[in-house]
Amino acid sequence: AFAGDVQFLKGVVAMDGLPPDDRPEVCFAGRSNVGKSSLINALTGRKGLARASNTPGRTQEINFFTLNESHYLVDLPGYGFANAPVAVVEKWQRLLKQYLSGRVSLRRAFVLIDARHGVKAVDEEIMDLLDKSAVTFQAVLTKTDKLKTSDLAKILDQVRGKLSKHPAAYPEIVLTSSEKGEGIPTLRAIINGLS
Ligand code: GTP
Ligand code: MG
Repeated sequence: AFAGDVQFLKGVVAMDGLPPDDRPEVCFAGRSNVGKSSLINALTGRKGLARASNTPGRTQEINFFTLNESHYLVDLPGYGFANAPVAVVEKWQRLLKQYLSGRVSLRRAFVLIDARHGVKAVDEEIMDLLDKSAVTFQAVLTKTDKLKTSDLAKILDQVRGKLSKHPAAYPEIVLTSSEKGEGIPTLRAIINGLS
């Protein structure tokens, strides 16, 4: 796990509820069910820290975690399909977009991509928004335990091709499995290196 302390700070439902932008922050964005909350739990070594579930749309607030009092880790609601009423989904999608485009202390957005499915149209919309907002983003493939190495190579080609069209994309793609722990130390090192 991270050396030091990780704690849940608060869940935010509107921009005026954001904590002061006084430290570097990274967020985890991606389609509903891609594995954002599970990845935060794997990174922090705390299974129940971020609520993960098989129901798409589980995370409905912007959840802030403090890492060593020096960084914020931010778990975002998913985009795309969610098991929630349309009006509710629209409200958090709006919040998500405001957050991604307007947060000064956001150093990097990790855009999570399911390794079985690759980059979808909704992912590209988020990537376009991050380009426009000049927020550096990095693609993180999730659930690599669910596919064969040969299939992974194909998906990696697809993701690389898509990223090459986005000026805000960081070229290195991180392969992860929250289940098996693949890529977790790499991702921790990346976060610790951001200031
Ligand atoms: P929302 O909050 O609804 O947007 O979803 P999320 O992106 O936070 O996904 P979550 O972490 O809740 O995980 C969704 C489902 O995928 C859960 O059933 C997890 O157990 C499963 N899952 C997440 N990561 C992995 C992984 O690395 N491997 C496998 N096999 N399953 C995973
Ligand atoms: Mg979640």
